[in-house]
Amino acid sequence: MSSSTRLLSGAASNAPLAAVPVARFLTLDDIPALVALEAEKWTSEQVASGDEMAERIACHPDLSLGAFCPVTGKAMASLFMKPVVSSFWEHARDWRDCAMGATPLRTSSLFGISLSSTGPECVAAMFAFFWPHALAAGWRHVYLGSPIPGWRDWQARHPGRSVNEYVLSKGVRGLPIDPQLRYYAGRGFKEVVCIKRDYFPHAASRNVGVILRGTVPLSRWTPVWRGLKPANTRQFTQWFTPRLS
Ligand SMILES: CC(C)(COP(=O)(O)OP(=O)(O)OC[C@H]1O[C@@H](n2cnc3c(N)ncnc32)[C@H](O)[C@@H]1OP(=O)(O)O)[C@@H](O)C(=O)NCCC(=O)NCCS
Repeated sequence: MSSSTRLLSGAASNAPLAAVPVARFLTLDDIPALVALEAEKWTSEQVASGDEMAERIACHPDLSLGAFCPVTGKAMASLFMKPVVSSFWEHARDWRDCAMGATPLRTSSLFGISLSSTGPECVAAMFAFFWPHALAAGWRHVYLGSPIPGWRDWQARHPGRSVNEYVLSKGVRGLPIDPQLRYYAGRGFKEVVCIKRDYFPHAASRNVGVILRGTVPLSRWTPVWRGLKPANTRQFTQWFTPRLS
């Protein structure tokens, strides 16, 4: 069986089989598939246009990732990143400032402009693909802005408590009580850098966003990996990539 037609077995023997997503860098030819994914995952207020996505790919083709169904070609996940100075969040008021800020000449930090996904295995495939490339390029930290979709309901149940308390509250196994922060913590994005009050239109979060920081697995030893081909570091990063929660 070729790698492009690998299938995941269903739990039961007669369960339908799902194709294993194939992760790779994006190209401009992917725009129609990415527009369809975007429409599936974002509201009309939040959605990025094909032109905006084309610009992200053109500016940073090595930081634009996708996971695709090997059978249908459907885009199952995308992640657009850009280089930032490590203090970018101190001056940014909102998502637009984070995403549109000047690109520094030298930095080891990235900002995730947008993540969209139709299943956890798609995000896992993108990160597994990207980490060896990140090590070769010398990237150390990835910052992501997360909504906090549990905040509006929690605030209604806990009047008078602050958003800071909510963001820092931990539940089962010491993980954040907010579902999306918990999701990111399970993927290595555990460090809360700051909370932005008017970050992005997101009703359930009351427009609040949390900037999180994750560290590229094994990037502490950047001099070792720099210059090595990603194929040579892949098996190491696979061992160390945070496991899905
Ligand atoms: C956030 C996102 C990228 C995660 O994608 P994924 O890896 O395919 O994972 P899922 O969406 O299946 O979520 C996995 C689990 O994380 C939690 N979770 C993640 N995001 C959540 C959200 N917004 N609200 C509630 N739970 C959420 C849930 O517990 C979910 O578990 P479930 O299977 O019981 O629902 C995807 O949901 C998405 O594209 N959302 C819209 C855009 C977005 O918010 N992007 C991130 C900010 S840039």
